Amino acid sequence: MTVEDEPDWTNRDRAYSRQVQRHMERVLAADLLVVVFPIYWQSTPALLKGWIDRVWNYGFAYGRSAPRLAGKRILWVGLAGATAEDPIVAPMVELLEAQLSDGIAYYCGFAKSAVAVLPDAEDQPQSVDDRGNLIVGKAPAGEELATQRRTFDRRVLTAVDEFAT
Ligand SMILES: Cc1cc2nc3c(=O)[nH]c(=O)nc-3n(C[C@H](O)[C@H](O)[C@H](O)COP(=O)(O)O)c2cc1C
Repeated sequence: MTVEDEPDWTNRDRAYSRQVQRHMERVLAADLLVVVFPIYWQSTPALLKGWIDRVWNYGFAYGRSAPRLAGKRILWVGLAGATAEDPIVAPMVELLEAQLSDGIAYYCGFAKSAVAVLPDAEDQPQSVDDRGNLIVGKAPAGEELATQRRTFDRRVLTAVDEFAT
């Protein structure tokens, strides 16, 4: 947050910084937003949180009787280092849905919001055992690694297609 981009609760038409206004214009121009981010501690990285704090600002994203973002759709694509079998994935999805869809997108008038959590984002499989030890497996090499990455890319595109159609 910067002083220039702090909300002024008495002025919903406040002119925010030029940088933030440019981002607002990009958001306004889109019908469908896809936000791709690595999941950090069951949440968004600070950079993405800061983008929301500054760009989804008072008078733009909320604070009007007719929200300017109303009717748009947004897909939050969270890449997770956890493996698909890890029991932490399901609660992670719930947390992110509550935070990003209910807490932010629907609060701002979006018509549709969903979180797609994509586990296995790391080349090396990662899990935590019942004593809290991080177990990092071996990454495949060569063509096997290339195939693993292509498969992951396809999963991202499929998630976007399914949301958009
Ligand atoms: C600070 C930090 C926190 C992380 N927290 C989580 C987490 O809570 N759950 C998870 O599955 N992965 C977690 N990860 C793993 C990242 O999600 C993973 O490394 C990332 O999605 C890989 O994408 P990238 O190569 O684009 O960074 C974390 C990584 C970092 C650096």
